[in-house]
Amino acid sequence: MTENRGRVSDLQLYRRLLGYVLPYWYLFALSIAGYVIYSLGNVLLADLMQFLLDSLNESEETREGLVSGAAYALLDAGEMTPLEFARIGVPAAMVVLAFTRAMGFFAGTYFMNHVARNLVHQLRGELFNKILLAPSTYYDHHSQGVLISKITYNVEQVTGAATKALKVVVGEGLTVIGLLGYLFYLNWRLSLIFMLVAPCIALVVSVVGKHFRRYSRRIQDSMGDVTQVSNESIGGYKEVRLFGGQQQQGDRFEVASAYNRNQSLKLALVDAMSTPVIQTMLAVALGAMVWFALNPEILSGFSAGSLVAFLTAAGLLGRPIRQVSSVQSVIQRGLAAAEDIFHQLDLEDEPDTGTHAVDRARGDIVFKGLSFVYPGTEQVVLRDINLTIRAGEAVALVGRSGSGKSTLIQLLARFYPAEDGSIALDGVPIADYRLSNLRRQLAMVSQNVTLFHDTVFNNIAYGDLAGASREAVIAACESAHAMEFIDKLPEGLDTVLGDDGAGLSGGQRQRLAIARAILKDAPVLVLDEATSALDNESEHRIQRALDTIMRNRTTIVIAHRLSTVERADRIVVMDSGEIIASGTHAELLAQGGLYAQLYHQEFSD
Ligand SMILES: Nc1ncnc2c1ncn2[C@@H]1O[C@H](COP(=O)(O)OP(=O)(O)OP(=O)(O)O)[C@@H](O)[C@H]1O
Ligand SMILES: [Mg+2]
Repeated sequence: MTENRGRVSDLQLYRRLLGYVLPYWYLFALSIAGYVIYSLGNVLLADLMQFLLDSLNESEETREGLVSGAAYALLDAGEMTPLEFARIGVPAAMVVLAFTRAMGFFAGTYFMNHVARNLVHQLRGELFNKILLAPSTYYDHHSQGVLISKITYNVEQVTGAATKALKVVVGEGLTVIGLLGYLFYLNWRLSLIFMLVAPCIALVVSVVGKHFRRYSRRIQDSMGDVTQVSNESIGGYKEVRLFGGQQQQGDRFEVASAYNRNQSLKLALVDAMSTPVIQTMLAVALGAMVWFALNPEILSGFSAGSLVAFLTAAGLLGRPIRQVSSVQSVIQRGLAAAEDIFHQLDLEDEPDTGTHAVDRARGDIVFKGLSFVYPGTEQVVLRDINLTIRAGEAVALVGRSGSGKSTLIQLLARFYPAEDGSIALDGVPIADYRLSNLRRQLAMVSQNVTLFHDTVFNNIAYGDLAGASREAVIAACESAHAMEFIDKLPEGLDTVLGDDGAGLSGGQRQRLAIARAILKDAPVLVLDEATSALDNESEHRIQRALDTIMRNRTTIVIAHRLSTVERADRIVVMDSGEIIASGTHAELLAQGGLYAQLYHQEFSD
C-alpha cells in the first residue's frame, strides 16, 4: 500500500533527526571525540612508515616525520644511531598508537550506539503514542499489518542508519579528512589530484542516493504488505483452512514478498555497482599521483620515508571512502523510514479540544438533527436522528442489520465527529467534553469484544479500572454470570488469556466484557449485542442481573433478539439510518409496523 506522503527535503529530515540527538549532545560529543582520536591514529600509523623507512637509510631526515619528531622530542636518543633509536621508538609508537586508536574507536562506537539507541527508542515511543491517539478514520484507512510494520520495520531502519551508518560516516569520514590533511601537509600540489576526482565521486554518490531512497520506500511499503498478509493468515488460520485459502494466502504472500525481493535486488545492484565505480575513480587518481610523484623533479622533494608515507596514506584512503560510499544504502533506508515516521507523527490526533469535565454525569442524552456519513465514503448512514433519552431511562435500539445502530453509539463515544447535527450529554454538546472525561461516563460492551493477552482479572480491571479491589471484580463477574466459568479456569481470575481471549467461548468472552462494563459503574451503559452469543437461559439470567444495574443509570441496549428488549422503557426502531418508530413493546406491536413484523418473524420459528 503506497501512500502519498508530502516529500520533505533531506535538510529538513536531518535537522529534525538532529533534534532527537540534542538531548544526548554530550554523548554525541564524546563519540565524535573518540572518532577524531581513531582517525588521527589511522593517519599517524601511515606516518610511522616514514619513521621506519628513513631510519633504515640511517637518514638524518628521520626526525622530520610527525611520529618520529614526537619520539625524538619525548625520548632521549643519546648516542643511539637512527636505526637503534627506531628499534625502540617504532614498536613503542606502534603499540601506543594502536592502543589509543582502539580506545578512540571504542568511545566512538559505544557512545554513538548510545545516542542512536536512545533516538530510536524515542522515535518508536512517539510513533506508538501517535498511533494510540490517532482518530478512528486512521484505523479505517490503514491495515493492522502496515501499522505494525511501521513500528517494527521502519523504526529499525532508522536504527540502522543511526548506528551503523553514522558510525561509518563519522569514523571513516574523519579518517578520510585526516588522511587528506596529512597528504596536503606532505605535498599539497600532488594532493590536488585527489581534489579533481572528488566532484565526480560526489556526483555518483548523489545519483545513487536518489535511487536508494526510491527503492527503500518501496521496500518498506512492501514490508507492510508482507506483515499484513502474515498477520491475517495467522489470525485467521481456521478460516484459511476451512475455506481452503492456503493457496490464496500463499499467492498474496508470494506477491508481496517477491516485490520486496525485487526492490531489494535493485537496491543491491545499484549498491554493488556504485562501489567499484568509486574505487576505479580512486585508482585513477592514485595512479596519476604515483605518476607525478615519480617524476624526478618532484621525487627529489621527498625522502624515501616520506614518499612511502605519502603513498601509504593515499592508499589508505581507499578503504574508508569505500566504506562511506557503501553505507549510503543504509542511510537512505533510514531516511526513507524517518520520512515516513515523521509523516505519521505530523498527522492530526483524535480531536480533543473540549474542556468540559464532570465527575459523574446524570445521563441525559439528546441527539438532535444528526446525520452522518463515514469520512471518505458516500453512503448516508444516519439521517436526521432526533432522540431524547432521559437520565435513568432504558432505551432499546432495534432494526435490521446495517441500519446504523452501532454507528449511533460510536458517535456518542466520539469515535467520529458528529458534524451535521448534535449530540449532548446533560445538555452540554459532547464535543465540549474533554474526551477522556466523556468516555469515562460511558460503559460500553461493543459488538466485537476485545480481550487482552493478560490475566482475567486484569482484563476486567482494565485501564482506568486498574487498581479495583478483588472483591469488586468478583462482584462484577458474578453479576455477569462469569464467575461460574472463571472458577473452572486453571488459575481462576489469575489465568492468563491467549491472544484476544483465545481459549474462551464466544459467550464467555461476552460475559467478561459485561463484567468489565459493570465494574466501570458509569452513568451511561451501552450494550451492543452484548448477550447475542449466549443461550436463552444464560441470557435471561444476565438480563435479570442487568435489571438491577440498569436501575440508576441510562442504558442503551441494541439487540436483534427482540425477546431481550421487551422490558425496555422505550424501544426505538431504526431503518436505513432513520428512526421510523418508537414506543413501548405493546405500543409498537399494536402499530403493526417493522417492529411487529420482525417480532412475529422471530416468534413464528
Ligand atoms: N468504519 C466504517 N466506515 C464506513 N462505513 C461504515 C463503517 N462502519 C459501518 N459502516 C457502514 O455504516 C452502515 C451502518 O452500520 P452499523 O454498524 O451502524 O449498522 P448496525 O445497525 O449496527 O448493524 P448490525 O445490526 O449488523 O450491527 C453500514 O452500511 C456499514 O456498511
Ligand atoms: Mg451493529
